[in-house]
Amino acid sequence: MNCCVVGLQWGDEGKGKVVDILAEKSDLVVRYNGGANAGHTVIIGDQKYALHLMPSGAVRPGCRCIISNGVVVDPAVLIEEINGLDKRGISLKERLFISENAHVVLDYHKLEDRLREEALGKNKIGTTARGIGPCYADKVGRSYAVRMADFRDPQRLKEKLETIVSYKNKLFGALYGAPPMQVGPLLEKCQTYRTILEPCITNTTEMLYKAIDAGDSILFEGAQGALLDLDHGTFPFVTSSNASALGLGPGCGVPSRHVDRILGVVKSYMTRVGAGPFPAEQDNEIGNRIREKGHEYGTTTGRPRRCGWFDAVAVAYTARLGGITEIAMMHLDTLAGLDEVKICRAYRIGNRETTFFPGDLSDLTAAECVYETLPGWQEDLSEAGEMADLPDNARRYLETVESLVGVPITMVGVGPKRSQIIYRKPL
Ligand code: IMP
Repeated sequence: MNCCVVGLQWGDEGKGKVVDILAEKSDLVVRYNGGANAGHTVIIGDQKYALHLMPSGAVRPGCRCIISNGVVVDPAVLIEEINGLDKRGISLKERLFISENAHVVLDYHKLEDRLREEALGKNKIGTTARGIGPCYADKVGRSYAVRMADFRDPQRLKEKLETIVSYKNKLFGALYGAPPMQVGPLLEKCQTYRTILEPCITNTTEMLYKAIDAGDSILFEGAQGALLDLDHGTFPFVTSSNASALGLGPGCGVPSRHVDRILGVVKSYMTRVGAGPFPAEQDNEIGNRIREKGHEYGTTTGRPRRCGWFDAVAVAYTARLGGITEIAMMHLDTLAGLDEVKICRAYRIGNRETTFFPGDLSDLTAAECVYETLPGWQEDLSEAGEMADLPDNARRYLETVESLVGVPITMVGVGPKRSQIIYRKPL
């Protein structure tokens, strides 16, 4: 059984926990998009692991981990994660595989991300400053790109970096008045990266086809969320990869017909970090309450997340986009204690009402939410082990979301621990 897990909002839906639960039954876990901009938190027992680049399956000792071609790899972050896990007794030796075709994020990408955002001022995207956009831009531009395979050939890498640094120096100097970078220190760093990572570099597409032929069970782990998808999200306030389930094929070379189950993860409310339209945002006491109770601060940047009511218009759209077969709703416990809870069921744009998510940014910016208001619940849900343990109003909330989104909710999160999840069907 092969399964893909993706976020259906603007990221941070709690995918790490779902992936970790499913990873226990998987032979391989694959990260196929994004880079160190992601932040996955996995809690096992009293141990908390915050991962950025590593597939969440890394914390499961028997699980093989693949970072496929669609990921942009920051070797410094990856090595830090490998060492961090190693110190805690989790070895990645002979079970971490990185695609030779994955592009490499280097210092000049992070510098460019920062310089560009600073220059944009109030129009900035609010990126994570991890060099994601500049690295994907170099990938698309082709001429100044470094891939993992280049680490196998030091001479080729040296020549490439000399050309790239000279090109970037001209560019950054002219555009931002930045002082020139030296290629020497970068070459030295790359030498260290090469020594540590070279044994992991391989043809991950071939590996995946062999695993499929052998009947292995594969878990594909999407990073960020579908509303941040480069092509189908809230452009330009998106990330630079296909963060919906549509990114799976290009991101690792496996067509979706090999995926039996596509699980969309949502929170019981919406959050967003960075700039961009957010129709159901509650920039008020409700939003503050959700933020504090749900600990809505970025894993990667520590930034407070913007919070709002659940947006069924947006999620119905991303569920369609991803061919989602079932939904895991996390953080239902966070909404406890409110007198009433709201779900956005339509947008009013000017004098028309729509239940389809607009493609045009100005429509989305103008959209006002039409809410379904439901009674809240006061009970603490953290001990709920099955649906019957939930208060009637919490069950009604789930049923309303299901009917508006059109996809069944099969898992319900009631707390941060692995055990705090209600399964409505066997895993
Ligand atoms: P970038 O991916 O760093 O270029 O950032 C682009 C946008 O995506 C910004 O609004 C970020 O806050 C957002 N973003 C990127 N990665 C994540 C994530 O893992 N969770 C939530 N938002 C993210």
